[in-house]
Amino acid sequence: MVVLITGANGQLGQALFSIAGNYPSIDFVFCNSKELDITNKENCKQVFEKHKPSFCINTAAYTAVDKAESEPEKAFEINANGAENIAVVCKQYNTILLHISTDFVFDAYYSNDNAYYDRELRLPLKSNFGLTETDIPFPAGVYGLTKLQGEEAIQIAWIKSLIIRTSWLYSEFGNNFMKTMLRLATEKDTISVVNDQIGTPTYAVDLASILLEIIINLNQEETMAQEKFGIYNFSNEGKTTWYEFAKEIFSIKKSTIQLHAIPTFGYPTPAKRPTYSVLDKTKIKNVFKLTINDWKASLKNCLEKV
Ligand SMILES: NC(=O)c1ccc[n+]([C@@H]2O[C@H](COP(=O)([O-])OP(=O)(O)OC[C@H]3O[C@@H](n4cnc5c(N)ncnc54)[C@H](OP(=O)(O)O)[C@@H]3O)[C@@H](O)[C@H]2O)c1
Repeated sequence: MVVLITGANGQLGQALFSIAGNYPSIDFVFCNSKELDITNKENCKQVFEKHKPSFCINTAAYTAVDKAESEPEKAFEINANGAENIAVVCKQYNTILLHISTDFVFDAYYSNDNAYYDRELRLPLKSNFGLTETDIPFPAGVYGLTKLQGEEAIQIAWIKSLIIRTSWLYSEFGNNFMKTMLRLATEKDTISVVNDQIGTPTYAVDLASILLEIIINLNQEETMAQEKFGIYNFSNEGKTTWYEFAKEIFSIKKSTIQLHAIPTFGYPTPAKRPTYSVLDKTKIKNVFKLTINDWKASLKNCLEKV
């Protein structure tokens, strides 16, 4: 079974590469942005014609959340048109697509059941609340909007697609919040981190593992059940704030840096972030019989490697 991975030099691409050896039944084809540019239809066709993959994991994306506000066309070209190109070529080669999307499709204000929300605080009133796959997306910025447009284009283009929304990705690979905190701990004595955005960190290697488990699961089926396609949420278990996430990183690393909690308005950014983007993972756990690690356990696991 051939599994083609786009965006291979990115964080998730590298996480997939790091565990590929655990899956001897899979022939992996890792393509970086030079080998496969998802905005180039002809390039997509050539690569698929050569490898004829059974599955494609599309990790390629424009992920510069703040920069997207000033270059929306580029973000749209990659996240919406690029995602559509991949779905179209997957259809041509009957390749099952696993596409990665984001909690940034939510602003945390709109939901199917607004009764759960305090409209002013943009926070849920139920403590164990999680956004489900059927909650209505409403992106707060260009990045989230273009990712949502990509989801919609895929759903129109190719039925055999799974869209996996994830949140707060970090790992020993690429650029991410955890690595920024570790670097700042060596450069500064004090640091301020926002404490009023609630979500769940996701270890990219955990996401990589579940993507490959899903592929193994789907590949074992003789006739693929239609209802297995569609949108899924995946993050680690639990929830926290960026401040608490940083605190846990420094605690595990025994860093003496002084950490201050600040509100979002104390750290203005070009792009607005979701206030609350905890994802409900009931669907992915039930359909694919998965157990998911708690975010603190996965963070400890990751920090042992850096
Ligand atoms: N990072 C997060 O916190 C987070 C959270 C939720 C969801 N996600 C989603 O998770 C997925 C993986 O994220 P990540 O953290 O691995 O992102 P990343 O580290 O920024 O990697 C993205 C990769 O996409 C490649 N790429 C950009 N334009 C491309 C194009 N036209 N054709 C092919 N490849 C292209 C980039 O290559 P170059 O470097 O060569 O440009 C880069 O290697 C993305 O879909 C992202 O939206 C991320």
